[in-house]
Amino acid sequence: MSGNRTFTMIKPDAVRAGNIGNILQMINAAGFKIIAMKYTRLTKAQAGGFYAVHKERPFFGELVEFMTSGPIVAAILEKDNAVSDFRNFIGATNPAEAAEGTVRAKYGTDLGQNAVHGSDSDENAEIESNYFFSMLERF
Ligand code: RTP
Ligand code: MG
Repeated sequence: MSGNRTFTMIKPDAVRAGNIGNILQMINAAGFKIIAMKYTRLTKAQAGGFYAVHKERPFFGELVEFMTSGPIVAAILEKDNAVSDFRNFIGATNPAEAAEGTVRAKYGTDLGQNAVHGSDSDENAEIESNYFFSMLERF
């Protein structure tokens, strides 16, 4: 059964470019409800822990460097079929391959600087939400 929550981050490139408002507006217009939200900057240990699944990949160092290069917005979102709908909504990992109208097509720059994160499974949505938010921070 597919769940109704996903986890997202507006990444440092999109924050730097002044696109927090534009992306949140798109998220709301697409029917996702914001359950929790936080503006923060990750330490290297936190970014490395978040993307631990990629730690053996050649791009891991670059990924941690980028994700700690400035503040991010983290949020838990609710909608039917949230994980899969949100992945479709943000578009392919590489903005050059992202479908027209998706967040990454609009606001992403390249494979590394792709504006937003979206959980890839219900299980990871739960793990990632717990990584950032306590129960008291959820609405
Ligand atoms: P995300 O986790 O950030 O939502 O991205 P994703 O699921 O679409 O892609 P994933 O495979 O989880 O990769 C995480 C991030 O690592 C960077 N990446 N670089 N140089 C490369 O080959 C490469 N591959 C992935 C991307 O910035 C991607 O968002
Ligand atoms: Mg991923």
